[in-house]
Amino acid sequence: MNYYFDVFKIRKDFPFFINNPDIIYLDSAATSHKPSIVIEKEKEFYEKYNCNVHRTSGSFSLKVEEMCENSRKTIANFLNCDESEIFFTYSATYGINYIAYFLCINEYLGNDDEVIITEMEHHANLLPFLNLSKIFGFKVKVWKMNEKLELDIEELQKIISDKTKLLAVTHMSNVLGVVNDIENIVKICKDRGVMVLVDGAQGIVHNHVDLKKWDLDFYVFSAHKLYGPLGLGVVYVNKKHSKKKKPAFSGGSMISYVSLDKITYLDSPYFFEPGTQAFAQIFAFKYAIEYLKNLNLEKVKMYEIGLTKYLLEKLKELDFVEIYGNYEEVTDKRFAIVPFNVVNLHSHDVSFVLDRFNVLIRVGHHCAQLIHHKLGIPGSCRVSIAFYNTKEDIDKFIEALKQVKFLISKN
Ligand SMILES: Cc1ncc(COP(=O)(O)O)c(C=O)c1O
Repeated sequence: MNYYFDVFKIRKDFPFFINNPDIIYLDSAATSHKPSIVIEKEKEFYEKYNCNVHRTSGSFSLKVEEMCENSRKTIANFLNCDESEIFFTYSATYGINYIAYFLCINEYLGNDDEVIITEMEHHANLLPFLNLSKIFGFKVKVWKMNEKLELDIEELQKIISDKTKLLAVTHMSNVLGVVNDIENIVKICKDRGVMVLVDGAQGIVHNHVDLKKWDLDFYVFSAHKLYGPLGLGVVYVNKKHSKKKKPAFSGGSMISYVSLDKITYLDSPYFFEPGTQAFAQIFAFKYAIEYLKNLNLEKVKMYEIGLTKYLLEKLKELDFVEIYGNYEEVTDKRFAIVPFNVVNLHSHDVSFVLDRFNVLIRVGHHCAQLIHHKLGIPGSCRVSIAFYNTKEDIDKFIEALKQVKFLISKN
């Protein structure tokens, strides 16, 4: 496995692991750790450049603007789209809410229309539509998972109707590790005149994204899960949707002219970016992407698949563990995120004991209650893997899990 890259060398780039050498961090789907270059660049921004943009023509202001536009260029390049199609917000949650509201106020969605969401969604890609449907009158339909906890394309074909305007679907499940076939889903939706919004919060962390090839409508993710800073979301809006529409939110920085009778907006992406942006985070995020690209995305993915295989092998040896989803085989369609429970134990009790052994995982419903309703359980334990994890992390986690069983069954 280490043939692909030197994980011990890589770990030295992450101050979190240097400062916490005993911690086994298996919760990167919640938030990832940052390489030192990202932390240094965020600090460098405040120490050397701190200034607002679009406010003056001063040299500092212009410099910050140039730095942020360079970041936008790097991100657009990474996603394979135009720079004007990328706007910044505060998180994936804010990005999806922006798009949902934008679609409603621009009358893409209204009475009699239908939005399809899936049973696999994180609440961030579910609640905005459930809430807005009550105000704007559209209906929300659910694309259900099959028994393997996957989304069948045939089912999508069946539930799309003449009234369907939008499909909101996750690229990768934050509970099951399932990677959806976005290219095929988009093809089907395009044929039926349905727009596609993809929640890429987990998908972009582990998979190659090619927005020109996919030609979908909206793709949204958070920087903090992709080894970048907290407080920054990225939204792709296909240029066909950005021509002089009504903005969902408005304020400073996004206009060229304002009077009480007339407002002229700037073009995309500034049209979507009212107010002061997270300049330090935008600047630093560029370095997270460059770091990742330098590691080689294909090697990262192969390493993560290999490590997930090792985890599953070890987990399946424990007869007191129930694993959820079709994890008979680890493939590039399901990896990096593994949900399970210890039989007869509440997931919170499991994490309480694991924590005593310095093993950090996530437990509960993971903001995806529809999945847990389908499984008929209130919550689960979730291990999530990143390229900085090692086989030793997995071994220590498995040993700690054996202790959970031993200690709790003793009491
Ligand atoms: C699939 C998915 N979508 C959306 C989100 C929301 O991301 P954020 O909390 O950064 O807005 C998450 C966070 O866990 C997620 O896993």
